[in-house]
Parts: sequence; C-alpha cells; structure tokens
Amino acid sequence: MPNIYYLPDELTIDADARDTILQTSLYADIPHMHVCGGFARCSTCRVLIADGVEACSPPTVHEQILAKKLDLPDHIRLACQTRINGDIRLRRLVLDSEDAELAEQQISYGAIGQEKPVAIMFADIRGFTKASEAMLPYDVIYLLNRYFQRMNKVIISHGGVINNYMGDGFMALFGLEDIANPVELSVRAGLAMLEQMEALNHGLTVLSNHPLKIGIGIHYGWVVLGNIGNADASSSCMTAIGDAVNFASRIESTTKRVGASLLVSEEVYENIKSKAIAKPHNNIELAGKTGAYCLYEITEMRGNLNLPQTAATQLAAKRKLNAQRAQMGIFESIFSIVMQAIEKLFNAIARLFRRHPSDS
Ligand code: FES
Repeated sequence: MPNIYYLPDELTIDADARDTILQTSLYADIPHMHVCGGFARCSTCRVLIADGVEACSPPTVHEQILAKKLDLPDHIRLACQTRINGDIRLRRLVLDSEDAELAEQQISYGAIGQEKPVAIMFADIRGFTKASEAMLPYDVIYLLNRYFQRMNKVIISHGGVINNYMGDGFMALFGLEDIANPVELSVRAGLAMLEQMEALNHGLTVLSNHPLKIGIGIHYGWVVLGNIGNADASSSCMTAIGDAVNFASRIESTTKRVGASLLVSEEVYENIKSKAIAKPHNNIELAGKTGAYCLYEITEMRGNLNLPQTAATQLAAKRKLNAQRAQMGIFESIFSIVMQAIEKLFNAIARLFRRHPSDS
C-alpha cells in the first residue's frame, strides 16, 4: 500500500490507491482545506508534491482547467483530483481559513500574479507642496478632491483606472481589462486631463493665486499585476509592479526639467506616431537609469479613436458580466455547503464501514 508523508504535519499515512489524496487526509483526520467540497473549483486543497510526482495520477480535466487559470506548475496538485500508486511526500499549501480566503481571492482574480502589457501613467501637480503652504488645510483638501474627481472621470472615460494615489499625484493603468488601443487611450486621456486642468484653474483662482500645472508621464510595458492588501476583495487593491512602472514614474518627474506637460516613452510613441503631433527630446538621462533616452512631448492627437465601442461602454459590459459571475458564485457557495454536508456523511459511513467490514 503506498503511503503519503505529510508536511508540515510530519505524519506518514497509508493510502488506498482508490482514494484521492484529499480523501486519505480526511480519513486520517488531517485538517485538509476543501472549500468547494472536492469539485476542483476552489484550489484550497492544493498540495506541493515534494517527492513522487510520477506516482500521481494525471490531472483530471477539471484540474487542468483550474491549474491553467491559476498558472500552477506541474508539482502543485489538487488533492481532491489526485490519486497515487506509489509513495509521495507532500506539503499542504492552504493551512487555515486566512489562506483559504487568499485562495478564493486568487480564483476570482485569476493567476496569483499576472504578467500583462499595460500603459502606465503617472501624474503630479507641480509645486503643489509650496502652493499649499499658503492655503488653509481645508482648502487644500477641497482643491485636491476637485482635482482627483475630474481626473478620475477623464481616466475612466478613456478605459483606465487610477489605482494608486500618492499625495497630490497618482498612477493610472490602461489595458487591465482587454480593451482595444490602451496606449492611444492613455495619451488621449493625458491631453484631456491637461484641458480639464485649465478649466479647473478658472474656478480655483479664489483659493490659489497661481494656476496649477500638472506633469504627466506615460510608458507602455510589461508589469506584474497582483492584489495587495487584505484578502477581503473590498479592502485589497490591484497594483502593478515592475521596471516599466518605475520607468513611467521617472518620465513624469522629467516633465518639469524639459518644460513639457505630457511626455511619453519611445514605446508609447511608436504606438501612436501616425496620429500624434510630437516633439522629441533626445539624450534624456533618467534618475536611477543608465544610458540616455529619447522621450516625446505630445501636444495633440489627430482624428478620433475609431473604436467599435467607446472604452466606457466596453467596461460597462465587462462589469455587468462580472456582476453576473458574482451572482453565480453565491449559488455555487450554497451548492458547495450542501455537497460538503453530504460528503461528511459519506465519509462517516465510509469510516464506519472500514472499521467494521465484517458487518456488511
Ligand atoms: S479544488 Fe479541491 S477541494 Fe476545491
């Protein structure tokens, strides 16, 4: 009879080849998470096979689907879908309810971290700290809220999302959801923000003697996207990490030095050059980067977006779909609770049968 050595429990348990790893754990009273009841929907039963991966049954179709969604490597297996025909050593990966919450979050988001090319925008109000020194704190908050409210509207209407506020600056991402032309949308959003800033300045003269100016930097590149924060989806936020993010930030901080309001990287420019009116700034050195770069100051975009749907319409449709999926999730949870109750009953009967086989 094959056996399973469990980590972190440090227990060796004999396994019946007809049982899944999850069933073996439960028969041995090893606390093994299985939120969906063993239907390859939650991934909370996942184990890392430290030794003996060749003794594991091939992934079922259901396991293949989930493993693809979460981008799981071959040695991470779903215990509820895997049987063994030889000795293995494994580590349970979801050990408590907090881990289970994180796993659920990953299911709704997809891979634990997802690599994706996006347009990254950084925007900052120039000299705001100095300007705010002459203002009342309440006026500063009022002004910032007006500013962020307007900019947020512009970003959303161009298919982007602000996902990080830093004092009087923010980072916005375009292309998180698969919309067409995220790069062009980000540049058009940048130009629209400059227009909005002018309009906003007209109404703010009573608060600030000097019109406010913003600097915007945009880069397009691969980032790793992941949810950071509490496992509770309402209090976690998606963020982007990677060299491309730092590069976009450096571009924004260069706007003042070269006297431009909207600067983009070569990667962005290549994407929009047939429509952009741009002025190149050559041999620009960026803090923390080696070498010199060519950045482009964008002053105008010709023509229209020429999209089959506006970005806002596309996003509205996607969000409606997500809401429907969330509704389905509630039904699945109820189904899962019922199935777990049935499973517990079944396990109890199976244990009784194993202990007293001669009674049958
Ligand atoms: S995926 Fe195995 S218990 Fe949910």
